[in-house]
Amino acid sequence: MLKNKVAVITGGGSGIGRATAVLFSHQGAFVFVLDKNADTAQNAANEIEREGGRAAAVCVDVASSEDVADAFDRIRRETPKIDILVNSAGIYLYKTATTLEEEEWEACLNVDLKGAWLCSKYGLPLMVGGGGGAVINIASTHAVRAQAHAFPYGVAKGGMLSLTLSLAVDYGQNGVRANAICPGLVFSPMSDEYFALNRQLNPEQLVSMQPLRVRISAEDVANVALFLASDMARCVTGATLFVDGGRTIFSGIRHGS
Ligand SMILES: NC(=O)c1ccc[n+]([C@@H]2O[C@H](COP(=O)([O-])OP(=O)(O)OC[C@H]3O[C@@H](n4cnc5c(N)ncnc54)[C@H](O)[C@@H]3O)[C@@H](O)[C@H]2O)c1
Repeated sequence: MLKNKVAVITGGGSGIGRATAVLFSHQGAFVFVLDKNADTAQNAANEIEREGGRAAAVCVDVASSEDVADAFDRIRRETPKIDILVNSAGIYLYKTATTLEEEEWEACLNVDLKGAWLCSKYGLPLMVGGGGGAVINIASTHAVRAQAHAFPYGVAKGGMLSLTLSLAVDYGQNGVRANAICPGLVFSPMSDEYFALNRQLNPEQLVSMQPLRVRISAEDVANVALFLASDMARCVTGATLFVDGGRTIFSGIRHGS
């Protein structure tokens, strides 16, 4: 589905980004794996090449404009165009408006929101120059449905949805589609760490609150990213797809058994 396409995937060293990098490679794309963690980025690129795909690892902190500019300079030296940008790099920070410190706000917003904008800023010219492409922003159900004591993660993710709309409107005429995915609880290194630190929460109980009682994997999200990246979604832009087992649309009230 992605033959001769070039994909840039941030957070590609782990979880959803990594699963997306591997899947896109299986579908024929050359993948630039961007991650702050040089080792995991290289591991992902090695895994792709071992399986016969083509990939390059790029160590980058998406919160740094200098890093992102350098990363896309390097990409430009290797390829005249990119077709797909997946913004999956992210961190979570769960506090409240009064307990959050300013540096924490900046740390979270700079990675989760500014990072997606910076990669769009430097990636879009390579996409527009090649005749168009697809941006896929990995947001979260936190963007539209608040969880208690989960500030400012949801603010950053809500901003990602708005970023997606601006990209869709401003670059549609250049053949660029921009869409967002809101994953619910995905079993990944991020959620593993979260549950290890919050032992009072039972992941299986959270799964049972979804209409679809499935454990959502990073690959489940990658599959939806593949659809959005591919020509099958050629008329889809500005959309948000929920990969949450129906959790967001469920009121939580059950009449009957
Ligand atoms: N796991 C979930 O339940 C879940 C749910 C909804 C949304 N998300 C979002 O999906 C995305 C991927 O999450 P995941 O579960 O795969 O997490 P993960 O921790 O497994 O992967 C995140 C990756 O981002 C990289 N990263 C972090 N900060 C970075 C930075 N400043 N620059 C470059 N890379 C950086 C990490 O090194 C890591 O490789 C995140 O944006 C996350 O907020 C995750």
